[in-house]
Amino acid sequence: MKNECKKINFLLLFLLMITYTGNAQKNTNERAQWFTDSRFGMFIHWGVYSGAEGTWKGEKLRYDNDYAEWIFYRNRIARNEYTGILDRFDWEEINPEEWVLLAKKAGMKYVTITAKHHDGFALWDSKASDYDVADFTNPKRDIIKELSDACKKHGLKLGLYYSHWVDWEHPNGWDHSKEIYGITDQQYDQYWQEKVIPQMRELLTNYGEIGLIWFDMWIHHSGSIVTKKQLLQLKGIIRQLQPDCLVNSRLGLSIEEDSDIDFKTLGDNQLGSRKEEFPWQSPATVAHSWGFHALEEQWKSTTTLLHSLINNVSLNGNFMLNIGPRANGDVPYEISHRLREMGDWLAVNGESIYGSQAFDLVKDQHDWGKITCKQDAGGKTKLYLHVYNWPLSKKLPVTGIKGKPVKAYLLADKQKSEIPLLTNQVFTILELPEQQPDPYVSVVVLEYDHYPDTEQGLAAQSVFGGYSLKPSNAINLDGDCLVENAQRFGSIPAHIEVSKKSTYQWRIYIDKPMSFFTDVSYNYQGKMGKGTVTVKSAGVLLSVPVQPTGRYVGEPNREWHIDSFNAHRIGKLTYSESGYYDIILEVDPAKNETIDFQWLWLGEVL
Ligand code: GLC
Repeated sequence: MKNECKKINFLLLFLLMITYTGNAQKNTNERAQWFTDSRFGMFIHWGVYSGAEGTWKGEKLRYDNDYAEWIFYRNRIARNEYTGILDRFDWEEINPEEWVLLAKKAGMKYVTITAKHHDGFALWDSKASDYDVADFTNPKRDIIKELSDACKKHGLKLGLYYSHWVDWEHPNGWDHSKEIYGITDQQYDQYWQEKVIPQMRELLTNYGEIGLIWFDMWIHHSGSIVTKKQLLQLKGIIRQLQPDCLVNSRLGLSIEEDSDIDFKTLGDNQLGSRKEEFPWQSPATVAHSWGFHALEEQWKSTTTLLHSLINNVSLNGNFMLNIGPRANGDVPYEISHRLREMGDWLAVNGESIYGSQAFDLVKDQHDWGKITCKQDAGGKTKLYLHVYNWPLSKKLPVTGIKGKPVKAYLLADKQKSEIPLLTNQVFTILELPEQQPDPYVSVVVLEYDHYPDTEQGLAAQSVFGGYSLKPSNAINLDGDCLVENAQRFGSIPAHIEVSKKSTYQWRIYIDKPMSFFTDVSYNYQGKMGKGTVTVKSAGVLLSVPVQPTGRYVGEPNREWHIDSFNAHRIGKLTYSESGYYDIILEVDPAKNETIDFQWLWLGEVL
């Protein structure tokens, strides 16, 4: 896969600088305000499959994505045997209020449960189908009612997952095997009109306020049996019965196609990669499966999960984390203890998450963590610097924000003791305390009496005291500029294949006179002296011939020989005063030669 690299010209930069209008997440409708304020929610996958625990008659779930809620389909279970799994359920123990209490402890603001998953089994007393929990329990249970009562009691919003497209129970519902055996549109519409529509009416009528309906068609409707007309009918019922209820894009209509869709759902466990102005959400699991799977081993750490939440909020996104309770209602310890740890973190640092938004700096500008932002009605602004990696030097560089903060302190510090800082134009350096206040992620607050201006396009100073200049933070790329993605586990790193004279330009700001060693990393398999690399900055020109970089072995005895990317020192750049500087790199291969350019590093001479 190839990525077209960005060409940001100065005109665009100029426009970016003068047209920002504050930090509000712009394309959020009234209805979705609570959702973008909440940022963190709970997903609950629970149903008949929970009792199978990822194994059927001694055989582990077929198919390597390990989604235990797919066991009926994957392991070709007979219908009558499938509901027999319900005999394993401990109905005395099952108490949905406990899930809500856990969500509350975790600092989650809403709960979305699988009212009906792909197996077609309803977790409420459905009049439209006998394939529901009430028909298999005595006394009859209605999990949606119990959960909705618990949500009301504890002040959480209730969301309902409803599998509309796929339904393995109804003879005319969609099951992927129908790609082979076929089904007519009329047959499918029969399923739609006699199961989907009435069930949706039940859910929207009998359980009080529903915060959101979470549909699950992960392909566009044009590639499915479902018609746009059917989807609009379904959405119409929601708008009619509960006008404030949110609808996600996995209805099968993208937010771009229909602006009435309230939020975009990314792929399973897919985190945000860019700032968006519309509401969006990543559904995520702590291990991999959504339904309970007893054989799971790879649990994400609390730190990883917090990073995922923070990453999304820093790009205007939400994070919905799944629990897959067991057939006795228990939430696996590996999940519940991580959720409690996240809740403890949020109890101290939640201000940086709830109601917070993206700040106007480019994603991944800083190598120490992520920034979120909050602005009050009077324009006073707080920036929350989430420091993933407490700097060994105890110095935290912040690049690209104009003006001096009124105050800086640790969010965890009730006294708000001032953190000493120095600001010079667009660069602030904070003198952090020796000890980080939080073992997961520590948050530093910068308070401004206005929404601070930013200077876009600057390469940020690294926490290691230099500047890492890559294709992704260049302000100009001329000539060859197609970025080849990393391959072979990253042993071939992302680079630009340069076959003709090409120039790349970065801009940095330095706050005091400084000198830098300048290293360029590239791969070159040709002969010595065939091409040059030149760096120009502040009137200085450093030029060196290109050197062959050779090859090395990836793993023993596997014929895995890798072209080597090596760093080469070009010389020293000295800036005798503080200010903005442009750095221009020229890569000039000889005729019919290629140089794979990776990065330029300006390392501070101390
Ligand atoms: C996929 C799966 C489903 C799971 C969902 C969660 O669509 O089919 O089992 O519920 O992702 O995002």
